[in-house]
Amino acid sequence: MCGIVGYVGPREATPIIVEGLKRLEYRGYDSAGLAVIQDGRIEVRRDVGKLANLERMLVESPVGGNIGIGHTRWATHGAPCPRNAHPHVDCRGEVVVIHNGIVENFLSLRQELAAEGHRFTSETDTETIPHLVEKYLAEGGDLEGAVRRALGRIKGAHAVVVMSSREPDRIVAARLGNAGGVVVGLGEGEMFLASDVLAILEYTRRVIFLEDGQMAVITQEGARFTTLDGQRVAKEAYAVPWDPISAAKGAYKHFMQKEIYEQARSITDTIRGRVDFEAGQVCLDGLGISPEGAQAIERMFIVACGTSAYSALVGKFMIESLARIPVEVDYGSEFRYRDPLINERTLVLALTQSGETVDTLAAMEEARSKGARLLSIVNVIGSQAARMSDGVIYMQAGPEIGVASTKAFTASLVDQYLLALHLGKLRGLIDSARMKELVEHLAELPNLVGRVLGNGNDYDALAAKYFKRENFLYLGRGINYPIALEGALKLKEISYIHAEGYPAGEMKHGPIALIDERMPVVAIAVRDSVYEKMVSQIEQVKARGGIVIALATEGDEAIAGKADHVIHVPPTSPLLSPVVNVVPLQLLAYFIAVRRGCDVDQPRNLAKSVTVE
Ligand code: F6R
Repeated sequence: MCGIVGYVGPREATPIIVEGLKRLEYRGYDSAGLAVIQDGRIEVRRDVGKLANLERMLVESPVGGNIGIGHTRWATHGAPCPRNAHPHVDCRGEVVVIHNGIVENFLSLRQELAAEGHRFTSETDTETIPHLVEKYLAEGGDLEGAVRRALGRIKGAHAVVVMSSREPDRIVAARLGNAGGVVVGLGEGEMFLASDVLAILEYTRRVIFLEDGQMAVITQEGARFTTLDGQRVAKEAYAVPWDPISAAKGAYKHFMQKEIYEQARSITDTIRGRVDFEAGQVCLDGLGISPEGAQAIERMFIVACGTSAYSALVGKFMIESLARIPVEVDYGSEFRYRDPLINERTLVLALTQSGETVDTLAAMEEARSKGARLLSIVNVIGSQAARMSDGVIYMQAGPEIGVASTKAFTASLVDQYLLALHLGKLRGLIDSARMKELVEHLAELPNLVGRVLGNGNDYDALAAKYFKRENFLYLGRGINYPIALEGALKLKEISYIHAEGYPAGEMKHGPIALIDERMPVVAIAVRDSVYEKMVSQIEQVKARGGIVIALATEGDEAIAGKADHVIHVPPTSPLLSPVVNVVPLQLLAYFIAVRRGCDVDQPRNLAKSVTVE
């Protein structure tokens, strides 16, 4: 969850590290720190809170040098405070470490090291690592060897970066398990390290990803890769197609706002290159599924977390409807603990924006160990989920920086629609005429989303009316029931208002008790097969004095007589309507959070890549 940046080369390391950390601040923001080797000595600056505090500290107490590492923290062990912020140093101030993950055996290591005379200054698990490296350096050998031995002692999943004033020309980095990525950026006469390509996109787009159990030693001249036991590994550089401008906020006030408003374009990008509208074809041949392979699929699981899991619930409707494969959706965190029924005729699809969510990765490993074929829908290029899969569909949404997912959500809906079409075609269920019709619905999608975005100010007016409420209920049915869940999640995570999403038919089995004149109820009541049922739920809410904000299809004037407010959305094909319907709910959550003065891009306690269990 933490952000990691490193630099070695001819330039000043501090501004490169600070700029890189700024791009990663969405990953964790309890505290921030950096270490630079200045005149042969390690200089550390760190502070609690956001990166701005560290920047202020650097103005008062600057550090200069051409090699350094930096970190933004999402606290696990030890409260967010300056002494628990990374980097952590050894007793002599010669070894410095930043780390993502949890040292599971840190208590016993700490006791052992303390008994040997090492002095600890923080409550973190991380601090055991510099002391272990110090211990092994004292026993002889070089930094790389000492790091190797230290890594052999720590349990759990980790991304670790180590620097020492004893060997001031190099940084050693390692990845153990799935605690988050480590990317080496290749420059000309300079090298970069990061937990995420976004941090270094401005300097290089040629990167190498560390796999589980690999180490890198970077110097100004280049990078060398080995396994943990010291075997050399040849690694290929990957060219990242993202453009640094796409990771900038531009004229928008928040990244989330930018990402919501980008959706007409990001959906176009998601479709681009995958659909031949004239011929009426979807091209996902890269997945390597043959018609026989598709026929043989008996069931599918989609594994995901959070917003991605809600997207998966929509995907279930799409795949069951178009490819007639039974689909189960599972939270990554549950899947591996329930001994799922999987065999080689099972297709497991992992849905993850970051491609680094540890629960989803663990679910993928579980599926693989049981013989399933593994696909993933991923946004971040080259991320772990993509590298583990037999086939990948990239979301093509561009970098998503706001912690609350928006454009990746809509991209993943579109990707699942494409996958459903592809599988339906391979299984002989969709003929050419029907395929042409189904892809035509896709063609109009960016324009429909653009129309919803054009009414942005209406949502602010609604937000102004309700931003002080402390509870919201969201109702939907059928394929729009997951959109009710997603609308509620968006609101709660960025505005801290308690919000619940429910399948509307369930309201009478409990939540109806909550309804009174203080409860706004957002009801997705577009004209589809469950429209009448939704209208009757609205009546039930009104009969109990609730406030109804209805999402209705353009031209539906009848609903105005029943609801307190109506948000109109353009008509769409039923399977794609969630893509359009979620956008007003994103906007409503955004405007409410802004009016409440919340930090929209970095909501409290949350992080973009959740790399702890
Ligand atoms: C909420 C949100 C999270 C993520 C979840 C999974 O807006 O973004 O719920 O969806 O942490 O993340 P990924 O998709 O990266 O696996």
